[in-house]
Amino acid sequence: MKVTIETPELMESFGQELAAQLVAGDLVLLAGELGAGKTTLTRGIGAGLRATGTVQSPTFVLARTHKTASGPDLVHVDAYRLGSALELDDLDIDFANSIVIIEWARHFLDDLFDHWLLVSIDRSNEQDIREVEIIGHGKRWEGVQFALSD
Ligand SMILES: Nc1ncnc2c1ncn2[C@@H]1O[C@H](COP(=O)(O)OP(=O)(O)OP(=O)(O)O)[C@@H](O)[C@H]1O
Ligand SMILES: [Mg+2]
Repeated sequence: MKVTIETPELMESFGQELAAQLVAGDLVLLAGELGAGKTTLTRGIGAGLRATGTVQSPTFVLARTHKTASGPDLVHVDAYRLGSALELDDLDIDFANSIVIIEWARHFLDDLFDHWLLVSIDRSNEQDIREVEIIGHGKRWEGVQFALSD
């Protein structure tokens, strides 16, 4: 599924809509170059889950955990400096009971999970326009429709 997102505010709304689909055990991998809008999208997911604290780039820590009013913790990971799957393992994330969002996920992570959503954000030539594609991997996402407003 592909959508065009024209402003940071709409990226947050998109994150909120996406949040409505997420349950404990779900993993969202965010791809997209520097400044693509990965953290902005995560902020929207945080709002949708009614997460506590500010969702911001977890640059100095590899992962930040937010409690949510909706249930499972939201774990926000910045994998930019993550060198291997082993380093992810070191973070001791409770994947089964959390909703985990990973910015800068790379393919070495794919082998670790049986299902995940890959959200790729592309910057077009125009300043604020982003093209966003969502691809579900694994049985969990088979046949799941994203009722997202374009
Ligand atoms: N349509 C849009 N969607 C998202 N962000 C947008 C959009 N248009 C402009 N922006 C701006 O682009 C920037 C995106 O920054 P953000 O921190 O979300 O990106 P990022 O992908 O997390 O970057 P990094 O790679 O540094 O982690 C923000 O300043 C935001 O306001
Ligand atoms: Mg970021």
